[in-house]
Amino acid sequence: MDRRKAKAFGERMEATLNAGALALMTSIGHRTGLFDSMAGMKPSTSHEIADTSGLDERYVREWLGAMVAGDVVEYKPDGRTYRLPDEHAASLTRDAAPGNAAVYLQYIPLLGSVEDQIVECFKSGGGVPYAAFPRFQDVMAEDSGQTVIPALLDHILELVPGLTDSLKQGIDVLDVGCGSGRALNIMAMEYPASRFTGFDLSDEATSAGRRQAKANGVTNLVFEARDVTKLGTPKQYDLITAFDAIHDQAEPASVLGGIADALRDDGVFLMQDIAASSELHENLDNPAGTFLYAISVMHCMTVSLASGGAGLGTMWGEEMARSMLADAGMSRVEVSLLRHDSQNAYYIARK
Ligand SMILES: C[S@@+](CC[C@H](N)C(=O)[O-])C[C@H]1O[C@@H](n2cnc3c(N)ncnc32)[C@H](O)[C@@H]1O
Repeated sequence: MDRRKAKAFGERMEATLNAGALALMTSIGHRTGLFDSMAGMKPSTSHEIADTSGLDERYVREWLGAMVAGDVVEYKPDGRTYRLPDEHAASLTRDAAPGNAAVYLQYIPLLGSVEDQIVECFKSGGGVPYAAFPRFQDVMAEDSGQTVIPALLDHILELVPGLTDSLKQGIDVLDVGCGSGRALNIMAMEYPASRFTGFDLSDEATSAGRRQAKANGVTNLVFEARDVTKLGTPKQYDLITAFDAIHDQAEPASVLGGIADALRDDGVFLMQDIAASSELHENLDNPAGTFLYAISVMHCMTVSLASGGAGLGTMWGEEMARSMLADAGMSRVEVSLLRHDSQNAYYIARK
């Protein structure tokens, strides 16, 4: 045994324990609004921070201990004051969106909440269904609220030549697996002459989308809680979008076939999905690789397997995606990467 290698690995595991703990504490800092309260506060005691945040001081003080030990918050022992430096607030507050890393760190406790069921699946197979992840739709909406929404009009739609002109003139658009419908709401407001539809399995998500549409005064947008496995809407749409919604399908081949069928002859399918190779060894330089395979085990693959599905997994990759798009009848495919979103690839597919 190489003792130096063993020692270095042991130290790495210790650092991982701290990093995992910091992820949990960061999620709590986000959900309780502590980072938002602390941003811009002068050095303050735990009582002042708890009062400003409307939270229990004992919990806040212990949380601050983790934040100081984790080098997120600065501490002055003489006065026992804490300060969140502006440079750290810039990655942790709601004002920092779309660069708020705390949004994504919420996935760690969210995934951990189903660990017992996942361990059972390792023994007996099967999967953990969507319904077992109570906070999933909220976290997902915050996630795509940073990755998709701010770039949607100026960058993502611009990937398809002529699309924004068509949207101005009026076309039919479907978003498959639309979640809480933020992307649809933005598009429906921007392009009042077009007609937008969102389908998602989740009642909770489609209701949120509908509420937002009502609040926005948008009338060219409908949501339906329904399964997209068999779309059955031939030649009805000029544009179909899927934001991070294909790889976790139970029957992705059927969904893609239905999408091809639902497109008019000159229609476009715009699919955002994880930028990866289908080959593990080609993903090893992906800075988020461990997280992406982990989210696959704990969510994307397991929700598919829970319905007896294909279990493609988060890292199904470009080779598999191209092959499945071609099998579905969409053989003209271009793939683009956008600077703001290194984690995703944008597929523009046509029949
Ligand atoms: C990873 S989330 C993405 C949500 C949304 N597009 C976004 O970017 O925020 C995938 C969504 O697909 C939905 N979904 C999964 N399988 C589905 C199916 N067979 N029919 C309809 N929706 C489905 C889930 O309910 C979930 O909201």
